[in-house]
Amino acid sequence: MKKNHNIIEMRNIIKRYPLTVANDNVNFYLRKNTIHCLVGENGAGKSTLMKILVGAVGADAGEIILNGEKCFFHSPLDSLTAGIGMVWQHFMLVDDFRVWENVVLGAEPGNSVFIDHSEATEKIAEISKRYSLAIDIDKKISDLSVGEAQRVEIIKLLYRNVDILILDEPTAVLTPQEVSRLYEMIFRLKKEGKSVIFITHKLREITEVADEVTVMRQGRLAGFLKKEDVTADKIAALMVGREVRQIKNTEKAATRETILETRGICFEEKGVKKLNEISFKISRGEIVGIAGVEGNGQKELVDVLMGIEKNHSGKILFEGEDITSLETSARIRMGISHIPQDRQKQGLIEEFSMADNSILGRLRHFGGRFSIDFGKRDRISDELISRFDIRPPKKELLAGNFSGGNQQKIVVGREIYFDPKFLIAAHPTRGVDIGAIEKIHSEILKIRKRGVGVLLISSELSEIFALSDYFFVIFEGSLSGPFYPSRISAEEVGLVMAGKRVNGEK
Ligand SMILES: Nc1ncnc2c1ncn2[C@@H]1O[C@H](COP(=O)(O)OP(=O)(O)OP(=O)(O)O)[C@@H](O)[C@H]1O
Ligand SMILES: [Mg+2]
Repeated sequence: MKKNHNIIEMRNIIKRYPLTVANDNVNFYLRKNTIHCLVGENGAGKSTLMKILVGAVGADAGEIILNGEKCFFHSPLDSLTAGIGMVWQHFMLVDDFRVWENVVLGAEPGNSVFIDHSEATEKIAEISKRYSLAIDIDKKISDLSVGEAQRVEIIKLLYRNVDILILDEPTAVLTPQEVSRLYEMIFRLKKEGKSVIFITHKLREITEVADEVTVMRQGRLAGFLKKEDVTADKIAALMVGREVRQIKNTEKAATRETILETRGICFEEKGVKKLNEISFKISRGEIVGIAGVEGNGQKELVDVLMGIEKNHSGKILFEGEDITSLETSARIRMGISHIPQDRQKQGLIEEFSMADNSILGRLRHFGGRFSIDFGKRDRISDELISRFDIRPPKKELLAGNFSGGNQQKIVVGREIYFDPKFLIAAHPTRGVDIGAIEKIHSEILKIRKRGVGVLLISSELSEIFALSDYFFVIFEGSLSGPFYPSRISAEEVGLVMAGKRVNGEK
């Protein structure tokens, strides 16, 4: 008999939640020495399947076979001991600790009470060199960029010698440069005979890294492909079950009437210049993009525009009125809407139902401060559910129990729903599947047509090119541009994003 080369087999996995069947008789296997992409629409059950594999969530039925033996993990720590490590879609690092402390936490060398600092740092240095995971080990977690934090999560697992690394949408938060480094790391792992499970929504990434692909749809297995059979079209068809259109902004902006203007905004934090003389004007019915590698001031700019950060110089004008000193709530009341870059921290209250989240920050639409028109709230949430295809279609489900992409749809839906005059959209399609990208892009174009001004902040160049009337590139807090999608190539923009000066600039 042929030897079985699967290191992991998950057989007939079933996981039911009160309102959904997250995994409905799913079979999944992973072979040694492969990069296996796990793909599928938002809410398809990918994260759940992996949580079951590592023992974070218990299955209702099914079995897991590891190296030919039936096994059952009670917790992620349990599976880690068996060599399986997972980097979660939303990380779990201890903010106040330093990088190296986070890495060794729970796996201290030497005596477990006293951490041997030099031994630990040596080992971390070796790992970060071998796997191209550069990191400053003395930095505090709270001072890291998301990409760096992810590197720490990965180092933490490699420090424990995992053979199987599970990455749940790792690239959703990475810059293009970081993505290629991540690739280097996983290819290196493969060379060493290890295996990687890679969850992603990006078709290009699947074709770039996958040896094998498992596609899920609505809790079930939708298909399995080997490298030689993988094409972007095939995967898209398996994932969504229909053809996906690429949305494009082809119409000219309707007016030249300025709605939002910034004048010379400067912002400094801890002695570092985060925003440098930011001035732009956005008209009604116009989409202005801000492209850039994350961490170059985008977050600070949004915080300043929304009044979350007030410690800056320069002015913000909205419909000609100076709003520089207004509170966030006042700005929202004036019609400025905001899709935050971090849906978990700023966009949602996970312990509230989807229905309550669909009116978050919009109480003025609901009579008084203390009385909520529940009927109206429910109508709005039902409408958001159908308009944005939020799954499961259950408004009573807690926001935290929706899948990552569906949480994003709730936030986007709400921010578009209440007839804003101006929308600040920071990474509006982060973590959503290709079908939902189409939906969100067409909704953004729809409100633009109605005369809403849009500031689109994105690190996805394809998104900037598809939607913007024109765009700027932000680098180390300064803007270059404007650039027009039809007059510049993605490659050229990539160089500007990496700090290259364009013609005419010094
Ligand atoms: N704790 C929970 N309680 C109730 N339902 C849950 C819970 N966790 C997950 N679900 C549901 O299970 C289904 C599968 O979710 P899962 O997070 O596995 O999807 P996913 O494929 O990872 O999606 P995404 O691409 O959006 O991250 C979803 O409908 C989700 O709402
Ligand atoms: Mg997920």
